[in-house]
Amino acid sequence: MTKPDWAAARALFPALKKYTFVNAAGGAPLARPVAAAGAAYYAEALAHGDAYWEQWLARLEASRAALAGLIGASPREVAFTLNTSHGMSLVAGALAGRGGVLTMRDEFPSTTLAWLNAGYKVKFLEPEDRRYPLERIEAALTPDIKILVTSYVQYRTGFRQDLGALGRLCRKRGVILVVNATQALGAMPVDVKKAGIDFMVFSCFKWTMAGYGAAGLYAASRWLKEIRFPEAGWRSVPVPETMDNQARAMKREASAVEAGCVHFPCIFALGAAARLLTGLGVGNIQARIFELNDYLEAGLKKLGLQATTPLDRACRSGITIIKAKDPAKAVAKLEKLGIMTAARGEGVRVSLHFYNNRADLDRLLAGLKRVLKP
Ligand SMILES: Cc1ncc(COP(=O)(O)O)c(C=O)c1O
Repeated sequence: MTKPDWAAARALFPALKKYTFVNAAGGAPLARPVAAAGAAYYAEALAHGDAYWEQWLARLEASRAALAGLIGASPREVAFTLNTSHGMSLVAGALAGRGGVLTMRDEFPSTTLAWLNAGYKVKFLEPEDRRYPLERIEAALTPDIKILVTSYVQYRTGFRQDLGALGRLCRKRGVILVVNATQALGAMPVDVKKAGIDFMVFSCFKWTMAGYGAAGLYAASRWLKEIRFPEAGWRSVPVPETMDNQARAMKREASAVEAGCVHFPCIFALGAAARLLTGLGVGNIQARIFELNDYLEAGLKKLGLQATTPLDRACRSGITIIKAKDPAKAVAKLEKLGIMTAARGEGVRVSLHFYNNRADLDRLLAGLKRVLKP
């Protein structure tokens, strides 16, 4: 794949003219084609009422194919959900009674609460120097643990798991691998087949840049024959149009969880975002992010500021935590300068996506100098 024109890609985001936006891990700005895909639904409904229903259903499937392509899945393994919490609750419901869960101490609540709420025994693994080395995870896989639930990238440290290695470990130990990809999808490559992931859930308002309400679920085809999702409705069956109110056989596709009419505009925006990301190439995006990270790290070093994120490439992501005594205050001061960050973990969270550039980082570094080294 040829190297993308990053300046042209940046020009798709009007918000970047006004803000120094280094907060993709919070919520990313929208690109014009993504916003246009969502807005098209409202324009059509305004002009044509419900006459577009069939076209919207066709566009729903086109969006599904685009999302499936982004993660290396087949469309029948992919469903649209409302958010990570929703997807995780569906997976926890589908796996009821299969045994204990191992998860990470640093997880965002959307990863863990669904399992606790469903009554699973959940064991939390403590990090080692903000990392979760494979050997540490393996040692914690006691015979009672049947499900490993982890984020691909941790929101409060930036630590990135090696999904391939986790998949191999889970297969070796007969453990089900459930991944929350919210802090990575769109920025770090995900190939669900290569990694041997059983289930994956994600919100798409962060690195996938599709706005709120855009989210998804992947269920490996081998599971679709076996499980029942805990939610169902008229569109969960193979032919919804029969409107059989006594149907018991739900379709053996992930989209069985799209129980009723869906949130078309969010899904269309997600389809457009998946096409944009695939066009740029997620491998290219990751390389771009690493390049920007290097520039940021060099600048932090010059300023004498400390990144608490594990910086080795093997576990690096788009997130960098910069140590601060009062992160909330620092973030508020940066916002006054038009620099959008977040207070997470041990400091100021900076999260860089392909649309950022060195000029953003120069403004950020000047802001950090002013705020953290007055
Ligand atoms: C790892 C992770 N998962 C999920 C979310 C969001 O959760 P939900 O999609 O349930 O709103 C966040 C942050 O907002 C997060 O950092």
